[in-house]
Order: sequence, then structure tokens, then C-alpha cells
Amino acid sequence: MSGEALQAWWHWAQGIIPAPERESGLRELKQFLGAFTALSPLELTLRRFPAQICLKLSLAELQERWQRRWQERVPLQYLIGTVHWHDLELVVAPGVLIPRPETEELLEVVAATVPPGQQQGHWLDLGTGSGAIAIGLARLFPAAFVHAVDCSPEALEIAHLNIEKHRLGDRVQCYVGNWFAPIAHLQGQVQGIVSNPPYIPTGLVATLQPEVQYHEPRLALDGGADGLQAIRQIVQTAPKYLQPQGWLFIELMATQGAAVAALAMATQAYERVEILRDLSGHDRFLLAQRI
Ligand SMILES: C[S@@+](CC[C@H](N)C(=O)[O-])C[C@H]1O[C@@H](n2cnc3c(N)ncnc32)[C@H](O)[C@@H]1O
Repeated sequence: MSGEALQAWWHWAQGIIPAPERESGLRELKQFLGAFTALSPLELTLRRFPAQICLKLSLAELQERWQRRWQERVPLQYLIGTVHWHDLELVVAPGVLIPRPETEELLEVVAATVPPGQQQGHWLDLGTGSGAIAIGLARLFPAAFVHAVDCSPEALEIAHLNIEKHRLGDRVQCYVGNWFAPIAHLQGQVQGIVSNPPYIPTGLVATLQPEVQYHEPRLALDGGADGLQAIRQIVQTAPKYLQPQGWLFIELMATQGAAVAALAMATQAYERVEILRDLSGHDRFLLAQRI
């Protein structure tokens, strides 16, 4: 398409961004066009387009997707099909949660906590979704083997794509099923477990922003009446799977810190239980080490 036609398209695209979201919407517009053209961030910021621009999809399709962003509130990442997370580019689609910045921090907590002597062996990513944690872990610990579990076959399809994309098929294995069920053979052998399970209380799901509540999988969000259904199961079952001194790291909701620490303590299976804060200062992660 010509640079002139793109200027006209930009004008239209900018016009359908709701006024209160103009600033963030413009940032998204640059990201959106950047994903489907070879235009540089500078060209997009200055709106200096070359005479001819090659589009990776038809103008009609581009238009339709941008309309869906604002009329249906489809998250930008689903429209683009990828997300930058940690140091990775991951494929995402409506069957998987879009990995969040807090989960990047979870991986940083793991990196800062686990000593070199424990960075190998079997590691688990429970509720792998797009495979973000599993891939991050495998890259962080090059001598580890990562088992990635999810009960959603749609999510595992995407996880698989991402694992192949990062050439980790020899060190990350996917399993479909309910938390520990598909990996029962690993009891007592696991060096560490990392999980970002669903933790939103059912009653709060309807209060989430439309992008999340209408488009991200409910299975990835809904943590049952108190939000702790999955966390409870993981905290209570993990000791059976962990080796002595093995690690458990779980992401949680800001208000759940005390309850999750109490759950871990009540098992009497962990010698160390800590709730760590995220960069915004909210309780966000459980760190527990098995006796
Ligand atoms: C909050 S998402 C996390 C996805 C990914 N790990 C991330 O951090 O972006 C939770 C994931 O747990 C999965 N899940 C929910 N219930 C499950 C269960 N009973 N057994 C296994 N996985 C489950 C969902 O399908 C979803 O992919």
C-alpha cells in the first residue's frame, strides 16, 4: 500500500479509539502496525511512512482486526498473535492466558532463590498456558528437565508451538490433565515447582476489565469461591512430589498472602515459607522449601 493510503488509514484507526483511552490506544496502534509491517518504531512515532509499505495481511483484515480491538475489546496480543514476555516472543491465541509482567517477576524470584546445586533435575510448571514459565525455566536452568501440565488441550497446543519455536522440545515435555495427575510417576523426585494457577475468586471474575473477562479463558482465571481452590491443592500435594529441600513457587493475588502462608504452614511439610512482594509492593508470590 502507499504511504499516503497508510496516512489515511492511520487517521481512521486513530479516530475509533475511545477518547479516554487515546494515549494508550495510540501506543497500541503503533504496536499493531509494527506487527504487520516492517515500519520502525521511529517511523511509526513520527508517522513518516515510505512511499510503499508491504502489509503482512490485507487492508480489509487489518481494518477488521483494529475494529474488533475497540468494538469487542479483544486484547491487542490476540489480534497480533504474539506477546513479548521476559526475553521471549511467545505465540498467543484466545485459548491461553496472555502472560503477565508479574509472572516475569515470578521467574526472577526463582532465579534469585535457587542455588546452582539445585538448578537441575525435574522441574514442574503447573498450569503452563502458553508455556511461558516452562520455557523461561528451561532457559534459566540449562541442565533441568521441565514438565509442563495443563488441563486445556487448546492451551497445550499453543505451549507446544512455543516450545518448538524456542527449540526446547528435548527438555520440556507437555502433559494434559489435572495438576499432578499426569505426572504421578515423579513423586519424590521433583527439584522444584513453579505455578501461576487461576486465583481470582469466582465472584470477582465479572468485575475484571472486558478484555480479560470476555476474552481470556475462564479456566485460567477462576480460582473458585475464595480464589484458593487451585493454590490449596498445589500447596498440599507438592510435598509428595518434591525432594527434600525442593522448592515451591506460586503466584497469587495481592490479598491472598496471609491465607496462602497459613495453608503452607498447616501442612508442616515446609521448613521455609515466605510471601514475597511484587515491584508494586503487593504480596504476590509464595516461596516454600520442603523439609
Ligand atoms: C493463570 S493461567 C497461567 C498460564 C501461564 N502459566 C502463565 O503464567 O501465563 C492458569 C493455567 O492453569 C490451567 N489450569 C486450570 N485448572 C487446571 C487444572 N485443574 N489442572 C491443570 N491446569 C489447570 C489453565 O488452563 C491455565 O492455562
